[in-house]
Formats: sequence, C-alpha cells, structure tokens
Amino acid sequence: MSSTPSTSPSTASQPAAVVTGASSGIGKELARLAASEHGAILLVARSSDLLTELATELEPLCDAVAWLSADLADSDAGDRIEAALAERGWHCDVLIEAAGIGFVGPAWETDRADQVATVDINIRALTDLALRFLPGMVKRRSGGLLLVGSISGFFPGPNMAVYYASKAYIRSLSLALHAETRQAGVTVTCLAPGFVTTPFLGLSGLRPTRMRKLLPRITPEQAARAGWRAFRAGRSIVVPDTTTRLVVSVMRMLPGNLATRLIRRLQS
Ligand SMILES: NC(=O)c1ccc[n+]([C@@H]2O[C@H](COP(=O)([O-])OP(=O)(O)OC[C@H]3O[C@@H](n4cnc5c(N)ncnc54)[C@H](OP(=O)(O)O)[C@@H]3O)[C@@H](O)[C@H]2O)c1
Repeated sequence: MSSTPSTSPSTASQPAAVVTGASSGIGKELARLAASEHGAILLVARSSDLLTELATELEPLCDAVAWLSADLADSDAGDRIEAALAERGWHCDVLIEAAGIGFVGPAWETDRADQVATVDINIRALTDLALRFLPGMVKRRSGGLLLVGSISGFFPGPNMAVYYASKAYIRSLSLALHAETRQAGVTVTCLAPGFVTTPFLGLSGLRPTRMRKLLPRITPEQAARAGWRAFRAGRSIVVPDTTTRLVVSVMRMLPGNLATRLIRRLQS
C-alpha cells in the first residue's frame, strides 16, 4: 500500500471525508471544498504524485490529510481504503465518489476490457465503498454520500452505451439511498453535471460532437461547488448550470425513443 502518514497525530474515531478521483478535475475540487469543512481527509486515486501535491496544498485547511494510491478496478481497493482509515483511527463521515471512466464508440467496436473496467470503477467499486460506509453513517446519524453521476444518467447513450448505463445506475442508486436514509440524519446526493472542462473529455476519446457544441461547458470548480452546496442542503440530485438543466428537462419530455435517437445523432 502506498500512502502517506497523517499529517497530525490521529485521535480515536475522528470523522473523515474520503474522496475518490481526488487527483484531478471534479474530485480534486470537491476535495478542496471538503477539506475546508472537515478535520481529516483521505484522498484516493492512482496518481501518487498528484495526490502528494494536493495533500500539501490542503494541509493548512484541515487537521489531517492522508492519501492512498489505489486502483479502484482492483477488488481489494475497498479493503485498503478501510484499512487506511482504521490505521489512523478515522471513520468515513462523508464519502465523495468522483472517480469515473468512460469510452466513446459503438459498444460492439469498443474494447471489451475498457467497457468492463467502466462497470468495475463506475458501478462495482462505487457501490462497494458506498455500502461499506453507509451503515456507520446511519448508526451515527451523521454524514453522507456525494456520488458523481452525469446528465448521461438520464438517458440511454448510443455511442457511449456502457458509460451512460453506468451513470443511470449511479442516479438510480443515489435516489433510492437518499429515500432510504433521509430520516436517518444522512444525506445522499447525486451530482449530475453536463460538460465539465476536465481531462476526462480528452481521455474518453470524446471529439467535439454535436452534443458538445450544443451544451455549455462549466469549470470543475463550478460543478464541485454546485454538488457540495446540494449535498450540504440535503438535496437528492443536482444538475449544475441552468441551460443544461433545461435541455435535460425538455429531452425527458420527448415521447418514446425520440431522446435516444436524438442522442445518437448528437453523439456522432
Ligand atoms: N468532465 C465531464 O464533462 C463530466 C461530465 C459529467 C460527469 N463527469 C464525471 O465526473 C467524474 C470525475 O471526472 P472528471 O471530469 O473530473 O475527470 P478527470 O479529471 O479525468 O478525473 C477522473 C478521476 O478518476 C480517477 N480514476 C480514474 N480511473 C481510476 C481508477 N482505476 N482507480 C482510481 N481512480 C481512478 C482519476 O485519478 P487517477 O488517474 O489518478 O487514478 C481522476 O482523479 C467522473 O465520474 C465522470 O464520469 C464528468
């Protein structure tokens, strides 16, 4: 396990925020926001160098910062995150799950391993962590989950089928968990952005499709701020940016498979 020691001596069962995907983009911005409100924070991603850099930046903002280099596609990643908390005497009070991947292209042409990895990271690992830490939150009647979905979660997504389906899963899971836990003093919020200017847009092979020309882009700071505000207000879901929210609302009113056909055209 590759991780830093806490930057201050640990105290028994100190509440901590855990942020996956903290090395970049929306997760990094959410980590900055969480650090300013939490005593302790654990940053998780694969890129050790970027996590070290962020940990150094966040040190003055909170009592203790630690990071863990973990590949969420590994089946033991959840155990390692839990162990990293336990060895510091921390428990997960707020879990922010921003790590996510996606690949563009017809499902039958796109690399199968990449598509299965999308399920592993966006669905399996995300669920594993949520279900690990949620029982403790309910027991303590404190904290919650902020799960990063996408507007892709509202529709089937031809040309990015597995990614859209994974985000539909996150949206559905978030809304159900929100309903289950709302009387238990715990918040579950889904942050569902449209286009955000992060490395994700390049990594996933997204070319400037009609979809990207149609919808505005927001910064990761704007997306994170909207998500954090919604989480703090106990909301179940938030789509940052008014135009994107409007487009999603209109498309959801389209009859039959019209939205799917439209997305197919827009994604080409
Ligand atoms: N950008 C957009 O337009 C947009 C729109 C809607 C939703 N989203 C969602 O927002 C979330 C964050 O994406 P982003 O836009 O901020 O992209 P990003 O800058 O590329 O960040 C992705 C994060 O996920 C981490 N990650 C990827 N694979 C991982 C793995 N196998 N194990 C552990 N961590 C892994 C990356 O860290 P390492 O590479 O260091 O591991 C990185 O910190 C994703 O869930 C994405 O689906 C993005």
